[in-house]
Amino acid sequence: MHDLDEFTVTDAVIAQMQDTPSDRLREIMDAAVRHLHAFARDVKLTPEEWLLGIGFMTEIGKTCTASRQETILLSDVLGLSAMVNALHAKTSLEKATDASLLGPFYRETAPHLKLGDSIAALPDAPELVFYGQIRNAAGAGVAHAMVQVWQTDAHGFYDMQLHGQEKMDHRAVFTTDAEGRFHFRTVRPLGYYIPMDGPVGRLVLAQKRHGCRPAHIHFLVGAEGYRELVTSVYFADDPYIDSDTVFGVSKSLIVSPAPDPHSPCPELEAIHYDFTLSLAGADGDSRVGADPSRLVGAQIDHVG
Ligand code: BEZ
Ligand code: FE
Repeated sequence: MHDLDEFTVTDAVIAQMQDTPSDRLREIMDAAVRHLHAFARDVKLTPEEWLLGIGFMTEIGKTCTASRQETILLSDVLGLSAMVNALHAKTSLEKATDASLLGPFYRETAPHLKLGDSIAALPDAPELVFYGQIRNAAGAGVAHAMVQVWQTDAHGFYDMQLHGQEKMDHRAVFTTDAEGRFHFRTVRPLGYYIPMDGPVGRLVLAQKRHGCRPAHIHFLVGAEGYRELVTSVYFADDPYIDSDTVFGVSKSLIVSPAPDPHSPCPELEAIHYDFTLSLAGADGDSRVGADPSRLVGAQIDHVG
């Protein structure tokens, strides 16, 4: 037995967690405790500050509902979601399209539409066509891949921000054709503020960050035998393209709509983007996030 001080308490906690049956849970919690304790020592955390931090986390929990995930939003603004994506990309068997954030506006139950349909129920801005091919790492088309797509309307709002769970718009699921091709019509989305009316928004404002995301279209692409791809394409001319609040933009994901005589709708401005999938390995899910309704009641003792 030794006196507890700001160093020996770390060893004492780690010793008490030694018998964790899951190796992975033990590894994660050992590192979490070591880094958390080092953080407290680094900043010489005071009781008053720690209580404020606990109040902040309590507010985060209370803000979560079946349609809002404030904890994922915190992970996003801290760059942790982008970090987990980057680490996951390193374990890919083959080079795939860069990943980007799933975000809080993904819903599992979007309607299935036919290739060429518009994902905007009532387009109130000039239409674009988005077309491309889902490919494997060798460049061959992936037939019958599932392409889920979601975006804001032309004014920067997701359907659930306007209509709650009542109505779906600006989102759909498509199936690629025998050559792996897909196309759909849409309107240009607008950049938007992340949800700023909760504790995460207050943190962002306290840090004098703008809180915006550049305009983008989300994709979740899946096919039998391939690792699921969660990504987005970002509009080059958006003023926030270099300062995304949640660190989702990679150079390879930036697009510019342009006239395109080769597109399936040559009368419209087009975005042409082909996505590459990696073969699936033995690892699990690629989603840093979820439909928020899925996360109610998730259990930590499922790790490992
Ligand atoms: C989104 O792109 O939908 C999103 C991602 C992270 C935080 C907020 C929104
Ligand atoms: Fe988004």
